[in-house]
Amino acid sequence: MNAGLVDVLGIAVAAIAFASAVLMLMVHKELGPFTGLSAGGKWMLMGAFGMGVLAFGFKMAVAAVMVGMPERAVAPLIAAYGGPTMLHDADGSSFDDRPVAARYVWEPLPAVAPAPPDNPTTPAKVALGERLFNERRLSADGTLSCASCHDLRGHAGGDGRATATGIDGQVGGRNVPTVWNAVFQSVLFWDGRAPSLEEQAKGPILNPIEMGMPSAAEVERRLNGDSSYRAAFAEVFGPGRAIDIDLVAKAIAAYERTLVTPDAPYDRFVRGDAKALTPAQLRGMALFESLGCVTCHQGPAFSDASLLGGRLPMRIFPTNPNRYEEKFGLLADGGATGQRHGRGTWRVASLRNVALTGPWLHNGAVDKLADVVRIMAAAQLGAEVAESAPQTRRVEWSPAERAFVRTERRAVGDRDVADIVAFLDALSSDTLTAARRKATP
Ligand code: HEC
Ligand code: HEC
Repeated sequence: MNAGLVDVLGIAVAAIAFASAVLMLMVHKELGPFTGLSAGGKWMLMGAFGMGVLAFGFKMAVAAVMVGMPERAVAPLIAAYGGPTMLHDADGSSFDDRPVAARYVWEPLPAVAPAPPDNPTTPAKVALGERLFNERRLSADGTLSCASCHDLRGHAGGDGRATATGIDGQVGGRNVPTVWNAVFQSVLFWDGRAPSLEEQAKGPILNPIEMGMPSAAEVERRLNGDSSYRAAFAEVFGPGRAIDIDLVAKAIAAYERTLVTPDAPYDRFVRGDAKALTPAQLRGMALFESLGCVTCHQGPAFSDASLLGGRLPMRIFPTNPNRYEEKFGLLADGGATGQRHGRGTWRVASLRNVALTGPWLHNGAVDKLADVVRIMAAAQLGAEVAESAPQTRRVEWSPAERAFVRTERRAVGDRDVADIVAFLDALSSDTLTAARRKATP
C-alpha cells in the first residue's frame, strides 16, 4: 500500500467516526425528543442515516484503491463509464496522430501516360487524333469540335462555363471537365460511366445535345469522303481498312494520352526544388493531408479514381448534410446512383489544374474555389467550418499509448481555406497558367 493510499484511508476513517458521532448526538438530543421516538426507534433512525455515511466511506475507499492502481487497470473502467476515449474519428482523420509507418508520401505526375496494348501511342496516330479533336465536321451542323468545349489553352481543357453548351445552343446539365490528364483517370465523366478514353470519345459525337451526329455511319461517311483523312487513317492503321468510329476513337484517345501536365510547382517541389512552394502553399499542403483530403484526392493525380494507384473511384457526395448543399443545388443530380435527387455517387475528381478550371463541381454551381474547399471540408470530412477557426481542445484517452492525449481538433477557418486554395494553385501547370494569362490578360 502506498503512502497516498494510507493518507486517504486515514482521512476516510476519521471522517466516518466524526460523522457517526454527530449523527448520534443529533438523533438522541434533537430528532428523538422532537418526534417522541422510543429508544429502539432512535437506534433505527440512526441506522438509516448511518448507511448513508457508510456508503460515502465506501466510495472514498474505492477511490483510494483506484488512485493506487496502475493506469492500465483503471483506463478500461473510465472508458466503460463514458470517459473520453475517442482518439481517432470514425473516418480515421484525426490530426497528426498516425504512426510513422502510415506517412503519406507525395508523388509527382509521370511525364508519359501508359497506353493500352490494343492502342499503342505513335506520333502519326497522335497527329491524326489532334486533327480529329479539332474537327468541326464531327458535329451535326459543323459548328462544334471537341476543342469547342475542351479549350486546351484558354480554359485549361474546359470551357469556363457552369455547364456545357452543345449544338443549337443547347445547354447541358453538367460542367465540362478538363481533358488534360484525363488519361490518368480509371473511370471517366463526373459519374464515372465511361471505362476508357476510347469508349468516352464516341459519346459526345453521338450525344444529341453535344455534337448531335445522327449515327456512327454518318460520321464514317463524312470522313471516308475526305481523301486526306483516308490517307492519314491508312498511314496509322494500315491500308485497306475503311474509316470507322472505333478508329476515330482510338486516334482521339492516343492524342489525349499526350495531354499530360507534369510541370506544376507542386511537381517541382516534390522533385526537390524546395523553393517551388510559398509558405502558404506548404501550410495548405500539410492541411490537405492532416484534414483528410488525401483519403479521396490521393496519389499524383490527386484522385482515388486514378490508374496511378487509385483504390475507390466513386464516393457519395455530399456525404454529410451541410449548409451549402441547398444553396449550390448539390442534391439535384444523383450522379451514378441514377436517382434524380439526393446524395449521389460521383467519381473523385482529379485536382490537377483545378484552379484553372472553374466554375466547379459536377453542376458548375460554385465559382469560388474557396467555397469548394469549404464544401469539401463540411460535406466530405464532416469538419466544422468557421470563419475564425476557434481551437477546440480535447483530452482523449489513447489506449495504444496508455496516456491521455491533448488534441486540438480545429475548425477549418478562413486562413486554412486560403492556404488550401494556395496549395491547389500549386497544382496548376506552368504552361497552362501562362496560356491562360495570354488568353485572358
Ligand atoms: C458540347 C460540349 C462538349 C463537346 C463538344 C465535347 N465534350 Fe467532352 N465533355 C463535355 C461534358 C459536359 C463532359 C462531362 C459529362 C458528364 O460527366 O456527364 C465531358 C467529358 C469529357 C471527358 C471526360 C473527362 C473526365 O475527366 O472525365 C473527355 C475525355 C472528353 N469529354 C473528351 C471529349 C472529346 C474527345 C470530344 C470530341 C469527340 C468531346 N469531349 C466533345 C462536353 C463536351
Ligand atoms: C470522401 C471523399 C472526398 C474527400 C475527403 C474530399 N473530396 Fe474533394 N471531391 C470528392 C468528389 C467525389 C468530388 C466530385 C464532386 C462532384 O462530382 O461534384 C470532389 C471534388 C473536389 C473539387 C472540385 C473539382 C472540380 O473540378 O470541380 C475540389 C477542388 C476538391 N474536391 C477539393 C477537396 C479538398 C480541398 C478536400 C479536403 C478539404 C477534399 N476535396 C476532400 C471527394 C472527396
